[in-house]
Amino acid sequence: MRLQLSQAKHRSLSGHSRMARRFASLVPFYEYGESQFFDTDRAPGNVAATRRAGFMRLAAIFEQRFKKTAALTGEISASVSDLQFTSRYRVPFQFSGLVRQYFRTGSFAESSSGVTVTDLDGNGSYDLTGSYGVNVFGYDFYKECIERGAERVRGLGPVLGAYHPVTAYNIRRLLQISGLDEVSFHMSGTEAVMQAVRLARYHTRRTHLVRFCGAYHGWWGDVQPGVGNPLAARETYTLKDLDEASLRLLRSRRDIACVLVNPLQALHPNVSAPGDSTLIDSGRTAAFDRGAYADWLKRLREVCSARGIVLIFDEVFVGFRLAPGGAQEYFGVRADMVTYGKTVAGGLPVGVLCGLHRYMRRFREDRPADICFARGTFNSHPYVMGSMCEFLQRLDTDPVRSLYQDLDEIWNARARALNERLAAEQLPVRVANLSTIWTIYYLDASRYNWMFQYYLRAAGLALSWVGTGRLIFSLNYTDTDYAAVAERILSAAKDMHRDGWWWSNAELTNKSIRHRVFKEMLQARWASTSPMGSISSPRIK
Ligand SMILES: Cc1ncc(COP(=O)(O)O)c(C=O)c1O
Repeated sequence: MRLQLSQAKHRSLSGHSRMARRFASLVPFYEYGESQFFDTDRAPGNVAATRRAGFMRLAAIFEQRFKKTAALTGEISASVSDLQFTSRYRVPFQFSGLVRQYFRTGSFAESSSGVTVTDLDGNGSYDLTGSYGVNVFGYDFYKECIERGAERVRGLGPVLGAYHPVTAYNIRRLLQISGLDEVSFHMSGTEAVMQAVRLARYHTRRTHLVRFCGAYHGWWGDVQPGVGNPLAARETYTLKDLDEASLRLLRSRRDIACVLVNPLQALHPNVSAPGDSTLIDSGRTAAFDRGAYADWLKRLREVCSARGIVLIFDEVFVGFRLAPGGAQEYFGVRADMVTYGKTVAGGLPVGVLCGLHRYMRRFREDRPADICFARGTFNSHPYVMGSMCEFLQRLDTDPVRSLYQDLDEIWNARARALNERLAAEQLPVRVANLSTIWTIYYLDASRYNWMFQYYLRAAGLALSWVGTGRLIFSLNYTDTDYAAVAERILSAAKDMHRDGWWWSNAELTNKSIRHRVFKEMLQARWASTSPMGSISSPRIK
């Protein structure tokens, strides 16, 4: 059994959560000062000077263009833990200090319209943040859902406990869409996942949940073992995605209650959400194979059915984005439970769980004291239900239906055309996509790929804090909107190339970069423990 488990784990640290936490606790802090920052890859002096000039030019653009937005952000950031965290982890920590000093990224926005957002300085940027995936149909769509939804429920107002009648409509539609029997409402995707797993454990009387390596299912401890969670998640198995060894394990163990699938992993199986703070080299890759992933889900379905394991699709991110019927429709596989969230309440906060009767019931007919508890003060809030009703009704209208027409063909062609242009210009950058969810990866070994996010921002593209790791388009991007974005990506890449960040030579490989960083860490660790070294902020020569 132990051998089978170790075979079903991915060989990376993400596949070994305890080891990852131990390793993370040993990584020492160090950073590059201005004298090391520009040639950490041993680039020649003239290249380092070109980079420095480019860096300062870009910093001047940031300084001048984002003045008000950055100033207000600066005022509050010391008191907002979220901002302190995100601003630190936009780029690898060794570079973060200087980047924070020169590129003061603003965290405020004034308005949105079409596919753009405008900051406090009046700069309009094409929105590629997708509001963490909430924005599927364009911001104007959600503004209308929220306004019209509020009108629908105004009479009842914020009364909780009693349902507003629109809730009955929402339930009917969600059951049609999911093909399942019952629904429960929650306040966030995280809570919907918590409830799905709790019910699966209750009904199967088994302890463990299975998640696949790298998959995000919210920030509840059991689905987030490893780095980021101070406790070990002892009743979680993290298995290899798309791998026979995982199916073998599911076939043989008796303690598995459920398998959680986040279909977004199809774009980068076994790898965590790609953020630029982990871009220490160019090892990041991505590619989506719809047929292979659909096949994997079918096999998973068969094993779960045979073993009485509850198969849960976590569609909080991809539901309604890939197809009106979500990932179940898109991949042609049915789950026992499905979670939705993000977009489904028309722009208001929500989590939804749909499931089969036999898994959703919170009591046992023959054991009245043996119940499965679930609560939430704001569940089924009338305003959320009103906005959800607008969302679900609009989903059935022609203008919204037409947005799904040839969706993959359109976005695959857009990605392909951009890659062809990048190749023609000999730029070492490519995009990969799962429909409207994109990621950028890099062809040549480099320590500086994370700089690209700042060139993109300067070119008028709004990115989330994970930088080039994830770009999310709303379905209402027209050809003209998209052409403007493609042009900006191309011109940003040209500027970055001109400024020397992608210099490389035969000795510079991903492996040599990783070796170098590892050596630096050992050096910094030694410096921090030695009485001769500085303990606060060792700088590497
Ligand atoms: C697949 C998936 N599940 C769950 C969650 C958690 O949802 P929330 O942030 O609403 O708690 C997310 C959020 O990104 C997600 O992408």
